[in-house]
Amino acid sequence: SIASSDFLRHVESMAQLPYGAGKMSHLNAVILGEALATEENDPVFPSPDFSAQALISSPQQYMNMYKRSVEDPAGFWSDIASSFYWKKKWNPMVYLENLDVKKGTIKIEWFKEGTTNICYNALDRHIEAGRGDKIAIYWEGNEPDQDGKLTYTELLAKVCQLANYLKHVGVRKGDAVIIYLPMLMELPIAMLACARIGAVHSVVFAGFSADSLAQRIMDCKPKIVLTCNAVCRGSKVILLKDIVDSALVECTKNGCSVGLCLTFENQSALSRGATKWQDGRDVWWQNVVEKFPNKCEVEWVDSEDPLFLLYTSGSTGKPKGVLHTTGGYMVYTATTFKYAFDYKAPDIYWCTADCGWITGHSYVTYGPLLNGATVIVFEGAPNHPSPGRCWDIVDKYKVTIFYTAPTLVRSLMREGNEFVTRYSRKSLRVLGSVGEPINPSAWRWFYNVVGNGQCPISDTWWQTETGGFMITPLPGAWPQKPGSATLPFFGVEPVLVDEKGVEIDGECSGYLCIKKSWPGAFRTLYGDHERYETTYFKPFPGYYFSGDGCSRDKDGYYWLTGRVDDVINVSGHRIGTAEVESALVSHPHCAEAAVVGVEHEVKGQGIYAFVTLVEGVPYSEELRKCLILTVRNQIGAFAAPDKIHWAPGLPKTRSGKIMRRILRKIAARQLDELGDTSTLADPSVVEQLIALTDK
Ligand code: WT7
Repeated sequence: SIASSDFLRHVESMAQLPYGAGKMSHLNAVILGEALATEENDPVFPSPDFSAQALISSPQQYMNMYKRSVEDPAGFWSDIASSFYWKKKWNPMVYLENLDVKKGTIKIEWFKEGTTNICYNALDRHIEAGRGDKIAIYWEGNEPDQDGKLTYTELLAKVCQLANYLKHVGVRKGDAVIIYLPMLMELPIAMLACARIGAVHSVVFAGFSADSLAQRIMDCKPKIVLTCNAVCRGSKVILLKDIVDSALVECTKNGCSVGLCLTFENQSALSRGATKWQDGRDVWWQNVVEKFPNKCEVEWVDSEDPLFLLYTSGSTGKPKGVLHTTGGYMVYTATTFKYAFDYKAPDIYWCTADCGWITGHSYVTYGPLLNGATVIVFEGAPNHPSPGRCWDIVDKYKVTIFYTAPTLVRSLMREGNEFVTRYSRKSLRVLGSVGEPINPSAWRWFYNVVGNGQCPISDTWWQTETGGFMITPLPGAWPQKPGSATLPFFGVEPVLVDEKGVEIDGECSGYLCIKKSWPGAFRTLYGDHERYETTYFKPFPGYYFSGDGCSRDKDGYYWLTGRVDDVINVSGHRIGTAEVESALVSHPHCAEAAVVGVEHEVKGQGIYAFVTLVEGVPYSEELRKCLILTVRNQIGAFAAPDKIHWAPGLPKTRSGKIMRRILRKIAARQLDELGDTSTLADPSVVEQLIALTDK
């Protein structure tokens, strides 16, 4: 187990950091930032200066805190929770959990009976402490000359106006609100306004299609949808309001009408004249919201009252509404943000994620604002107008903490170093990565070129379901290994289990599970607690199952190896193969489809679809385009298949189950590794598929 002192001894014997003895080694080159170790697994050390100023500055300090967090979770988290404002203190039980399906229904509760408000803690608390004039949000538009900013006081005023409007139109505690907005300041404003009045927000990423939006609206039945007319991303203009219109028509057809659509006029995108309008239902944000008072009383909610719903993909077609509650999520996102990024008050923080994903919930909006941080909200595309845009923004705002996804690192890496080195980037001190395992070469480029060999990289492993970081470096505390998310955060007990669900120790590979609950854990899948139990707690009774494969090395470091279920990870976005398949077969000419992930140089994984057409329909380039368009329309552009492979038949077992293992090998062109095909109902199918490779 990681809490053993072996790890500590190991680290101390390798590193000559301030807390170690004084010996020098080849690693000094790394410490001095002169060169990087070239061996895949050579650790990379934080500089002594960095460690000296860090919140957690040594393995010893981590170990002491970690030990307490797992031996006395109630005491550990209570101490942290006490620094927040609670209208009423929680029950001395602090938390209750049952993660064992054999003992009955799965139940997780933290800070039960405590009442608080996350918006109050993210805004009012700082203002009352005299920090109201600090910048809360710097907004940067699609074009470099479009920008804006809000202090904490100004942000609160905007949040209150919207909260008052929402109350005025009848939104009450517990009501769902759908938010379909791009990265304008109004997006976090909308989330916080809901939280202030106890409404449950459900942000739908503005890259989802009308069909996907409609599906989510029909699931949570909101009173109101918040959107905007249009958004520019790079050189493209996307008419968001048109998408909402189609979605609402679809919903009405299915007996789920939404009476109100509050539409923000995004001046940077388009004038209001061109926006389709339905009088009575559609209201311009600017016409109404600004008339409401800029003070709004807080609705005190129970720790376990829902804060938000966020839909994510699973291994079946229907998206899952991941439900997070208030108290535990608040304490957990704030604490993980603070330690994993070594956050201090003067930091300027930029996370490139969109608030439509969990990263934007926990680490654009809640985690940073709960810490009183200054955050950047960026509406544009990271390669517009040039691949240097990110570093231009870093210099413009003097960003100190930069958090992004490996796919962006890889795509910028391909553009050449000049786009990076022409900017100073002197302000940067911590880098972060999330969404998929970061391959060591991308890690090194990020570290050496972007960070000038001086900024530790926090490779944070977590999920929509976990609410916050689970396995993550603490940047000043210990050496990093490029490609490893390192060690568990406070209070997190990861375990690796074998197929039978038996815990395996030491250096090994297995299924990554979590033992015991943590405050940021999701509490249920909206409207389907049974699916929650079946998906996450039944596969390995007694544990939360992450869906990821993982190995652990001799130092206790964790190396994530990717999903082990039918979920693929495209540019850090989770996509269920079943969702793409059901979109494909909805096309009248498609008889059957099987989708697998295939390695992709920039996206991590690409979507590879095997498609069988209806008898008599010929394959054509036109049909290929049409099938891709069908997926774009049903899910969104980010889920469009990279490759369509025509398949006269699919490899199936005699019982009719598609053997994806074989399809994955064909997709990867590992034709000599197909394995045993003798159990197939018709082994000749495989030959046919190979013959049609690259056609
Ligand atoms: C899945 C969760 C959590 C925010 C973004 C994605 C993969 C995420 C890492 C990482 C290796 C990672 C896992 C996980 N993943 N971060 N640092 N190293 N894999 O959230 O859509 O809920 O997806 O993303 O496979 O299960 P999500």
